[in-house]
Amino acid sequence: MQLREFDIDGFLRDYWQQKPLLIRNPWSQWRNPLDPDELAGLACEDHAEARLIAQTGDPSEYGWQVEHGPLPESRFGQVDKQPWTLLVQAVDHHVPSVASLITPFRFIPNWRIDDVMVSYASDGGGVGPHFDHYDVFLIQGLGKRRWQVGAPCDSSTELLPHDDLRLLANFEPDDEWILEPGDILYVPPRLAHNGVAVGDDCMTYSIGFRSPSQSELIAHFCDDVLAELQDENRYGDPQLAAQENPGEISESAIAQLHAMIAEKMLDREGFARWFGQYSSTRKYPDIDWQPEQPITVETLRQCLASDASLHRNPASRFAFVRRGANCVLLFVDGQCFECKDETIALAELLCAREFIIVDADLRNSEPALKLLAALFNQGSLAFELEA
Ligand code: SIN
Ligand code: CO
Repeated sequence: MQLREFDIDGFLRDYWQQKPLLIRNPWSQWRNPLDPDELAGLACEDHAEARLIAQTGDPSEYGWQVEHGPLPESRFGQVDKQPWTLLVQAVDHHVPSVASLITPFRFIPNWRIDDVMVSYASDGGGVGPHFDHYDVFLIQGLGKRRWQVGAPCDSSTELLPHDDLRLLANFEPDDEWILEPGDILYVPPRLAHNGVAVGDDCMTYSIGFRSPSQSELIAHFCDDVLAELQDENRYGDPQLAAQENPGEISESAIAQLHAMIAEKMLDREGFARWFGQYSSTRKYPDIDWQPEQPITVETLRQCLASDASLHRNPASRFAFVRRGANCVLLFVDGQCFECKDETIALAELLCAREFIIVDADLRNSEPALKLLAALFNQGSLAFELEA
């Protein structure tokens, strides 16, 4: 799926991470991919990360009340007259037609993609003026929404002291648009924005990206480094010379201590391997996607010979890094697979396509079949039933 008259290079040059862009219905035929009732159903499931936000006007909650999912089914029979909105994260993991919305945005690397959040709002509903740390494409699915954008924000921007929402204390729109079904608004990170439903039955799909913070990177990389270190990896000074002033921490001690840290922090190879695994870990690693029956290489060979095609689990994360001319490290759902020779092309194919047709050469390659079977058995690949 491609967007009509959408200039990817121009978008990346002039808008991405810089300024908002309204793209009026660029789909060849827009169809809302999810029913509001199905969204409500998803919000009730055990694994759901969902929020129901109502504008109660209650001053003790700064006018906004938040309930976290999973929500009881009966909740939807009792929604109030006040404007409200339901938001469900990662709907793409469970609904293939919603996962397909990401396809036109695949010019952005896999590892930057977070998920597709879906919202449903009654007339006047919304989450209030706020800013996010992430880029987002807001696709209007059903009904209409007025989007306003304001100034860039940062950690010093004043927020309302709400326990659950990061609402801006002051929001002054600089621009606004009414989005209709199929319209897309790109909003760069940290730009103040506010979306309010105009009329009932307003559905919005947010293709959200992620960008690790420096503190997150340092903290998690250090956790990984620490797991490898032994207690005997320590400072030593067998050449110690008598010091004039015992209070001085000498330049040479500082240099040696600092080198103990820098050596690990500057290990590019170790970092690349760690980052691939870290960033490809699923958003919800506790959900078990493993097949009931593990597959053997032999069964897989037979299935592929009968033209069965494989598809990636939409909840799975696929990425790779190149290591020299004949090595690719493939990362899938937090696991690293070292690929050589013909499995390099397979690793690249798996990262580039959501549906994989395995050609005859690969079907006869033992290492390729082993890789596919491992991915199948960890729930990252499955057979395409409709094919
Ligand atoms: C929404 O869909 O109502 C909220 C999306 C956002 O502002 O990030
Ligand atoms: Co937002």
